[in-house]
Amino acid sequence: DKENMALIFDRYKDKLATLPKERGWTCENIYMYQGFWFESMHTVSIESLMALQDTFEARPNDIYLVTLPKAGTTWLKALTFALVHRTRYKNRDLLTHPLLVYNPHTCVPFIEVEVFENTPTYVDPHLSRLFATHIPYTSLPQSIHDCGCRFVYLYRNPKDVLVSLFYFANKLRDKSLGQLTFEEAFELFSKGIMLSGSYWDHVKGYHKVSLEHPEKVLFLKYEDMITDTTSNVKRLAKFLGCPFTEEEEATGAVQEIIKLCSFGNLSKVNKHGTSLDDVPNHAYFREGKVGDWMNHLTDDMSRILDEITEQKFHGLEISF
Ligand code: A3P
Repeated sequence: DKENMALIFDRYKDKLATLPKERGWTCENIYMYQGFWFESMHTVSIESLMALQDTFEARPNDIYLVTLPKAGTTWLKALTFALVHRTRYKNRDLLTHPLLVYNPHTCVPFIEVEVFENTPTYVDPHLSRLFATHIPYTSLPQSIHDCGCRFVYLYRNPKDVLVSLFYFANKLRDKSLGQLTFEEAFELFSKGIMLSGSYWDHVKGYHKVSLEHPEKVLFLKYEDMITDTTSNVKRLAKFLGCPFTEEEEATGAVQEIIKLCSFGNLSKVNKHGTSLDDVPNHAYFREGKVGDWMNHLTDDMSRILDEITEQKFHGLEISF
């Protein structure tokens, strides 16, 4: 709700003015807050993060889908929604499935957006909740830490995240700022400057928790989801508490869900319309492939990102 949003933005105006800033991806500035970067006045914004930190009340059975922007958030939302609600929509006319009508961002909301909305899922204490967020682990609202909530974390090769973000940000960017060049995008990304970045610190934060509490965090990789969708979707179902039965597996339920959430299917459904405060639905579907960075990065750019990744992920089992 726009009025509520304006009030909240206003409440954090003074705090925002004290933060270090740089040129942003989609608007004039991006701000450093608690060691990470956030843009302002967006639905998923620094003000919504501050508001969540002040007010959000997590519940122990909440599940959070966590990603960096462009790591595959939309796909993960679709798969999770389809898995959790699969009995509800079984045997119905498939055309009524919400994922064939609405964008996955409408089906599974970001807490950063819900803080402005007060929807039933947000306020009704009896509903078990499925949320998404881009918030880095250390900046999550305290109640999420206190409740011991579970997380699904999806990450992706940083080079493909950069390319995907480059196209996405230019689609959303204030017209008055002109387009970002790929060189500028590379500069920002390699300095760690992107929404909820740095890329490496975000991944590392959740990776650490997944090692300490493997039962709390399911750590998934976009590239694995692409090459071995079936076993990763099964892992996801199990973690969500709705594993596939033998009968379901025998009757093709896994493949049905994979097909429903496939890039080809969802990009067709989302040709028109907008979600998340005026983002065109089609902007979330570009190529859906692994390795498009090879068509964009120079050898030097690729080497620099390899070096940063090696240094930042040294000793961790994260590879691409
Ligand atoms: P590309 O720009 O490389 O194509 P996010 O959802 O986090 O914003 O990430 C968007 C990226 O995920 C885009 O990557 C988009 O094409 C890809 N994507 C969206 N839906 C997908 C799906 N169903 N399967 C695989 N990739 C998908």
